[in-house]
Amino acid sequence: MLKKTVRALYSKENFPQYFTVADLGCSSGPNTLSPTYEMIDAIVGLCRETGHAPPELLVFLNDLPSNDFNTGFRSLPDFYNMLKKEKGDDLGPCFIAGMPGSFYGRLFPSKTLNFVHSSYSVHWLSKCEFGDGEVDVGGGESDAVFFELSLQIGSRSEIDGRTLKPFLMGWWVGAGGELGGGQVPQGIDNNKGNIYMGKTSPHNVFEAYLEQFQSDFSLFLRSRADEIIPGGQMILAFIGRNISDPTSRNCCVIWELLAKCLLQMAAEGLIEEAEIDKFNLPHYTASREEVITIVEKEGSFVIDRLETFEVNLDFNDNDENKNYVFDKYKCGQDVAHLIRAISESLLAHHFGDAIIDDLFERYAERIGKHLSMEKTKHFNIVISMTRK
Ligand SMILES: C[S@@+](CC[C@H](N)C(=O)[O-])C[C@H]1O[C@@H](n2cnc3c(N)ncnc32)[C@H](O)[C@@H]1O
Repeated sequence: MLKKTVRALYSKENFPQYFTVADLGCSSGPNTLSPTYEMIDAIVGLCRETGHAPPELLVFLNDLPSNDFNTGFRSLPDFYNMLKKEKGDDLGPCFIAGMPGSFYGRLFPSKTLNFVHSSYSVHWLSKCEFGDGEVDVGGGESDAVFFELSLQIGSRSEIDGRTLKPFLMGWWVGAGGELGGGQVPQGIDNNKGNIYMGKTSPHNVFEAYLEQFQSDFSLFLRSRADEIIPGGQMILAFIGRNISDPTSRNCCVIWELLAKCLLQMAAEGLIEEAEIDKFNLPHYTASREEVITIVEKEGSFVIDRLETFEVNLDFNDNDENKNYVFDKYKCGQDVAHLIRAISESLLAHHFGDAIIDDLFERYAERIGKHLSMEKTKHFNIVISMTRK
């Protein structure tokens, strides 16, 4: 989708001499520059193909101010050298800079961006920023798990790839980074025994989550609409859900099972049940229809393409591998590592570090058992839009 979008941009704009790009929610880690690389690769490829001179590129890496931008910046000299070696004269001048701030609001001057990219960030709600600074930024445990998982999975896929990697990336840094609190959205104190939308959640919980997402995503679009030039484009990839009505069936089972482990610990006196009731995950898995409705209602962008794909939660499983032998224990451990990487800093912030090992041992057992009975997948949405 990235290549198609760059192609569309260039044919519209007649090969601009300067090209300004922003990657929103770039995070800090081994893959921070991957989307930038893919964008540059697409532009250089198109220039080679069409014989046009490469443009001067200005790339902004954005994340919350507490993101460790310096780690990314330290890798820039190697990145520039690698690009030079690989692309030679087909690469024009390229400048990479940081832009700290929340993408739920203005980040750039009016009409300055040609292209915006954001992967696996906009499912995190705006209240994610309300961490009080006590949260582990960067998350050592999360890093360790991520590297272990990346080694098992291999190299990063394309933005519209069908592998697990985008999913892992998408969830990993969001929670292993600067999120704190678990206070999102407001007015759902009655979400008893749940930590996200669950099948026993009262109706107002589903409504409150949706309202928060509608308000956040509309603000995101409005802000980008001011910043992107007419005809400029945006690609967003994020985690969603594959059913329209979240109340119709069990759509959030991975979090329901984690809530059950917390409830079991409360029953054993290890944590307070009231603390579970106060904790709600600050992300939202929108349906395809919800996303389309918000984009259309906001009105600044035309949707060019919207693709969805599913990824097995158990990354050892894959639909083509008929010889796959299910190992409940291993699968439980692997998925528990993944979910721990996603949620540890939020949980530790709310319940304290001391419960984490115990919690995820219980979770490994539960999720392994669940997956031995039912394949569970994650649903990804990739949307490409043009500024009207
Ligand atoms: C899961 S990471 C995505 C990393 C990378 N884009 C990728 O696809 O591999 C999500 C990132 O979004 C950032 N993020 C969450 N809310 C944000 C906000 N309101 N403004 C800017 N960045 C935000 C988090 O700090 C985190 O680094």
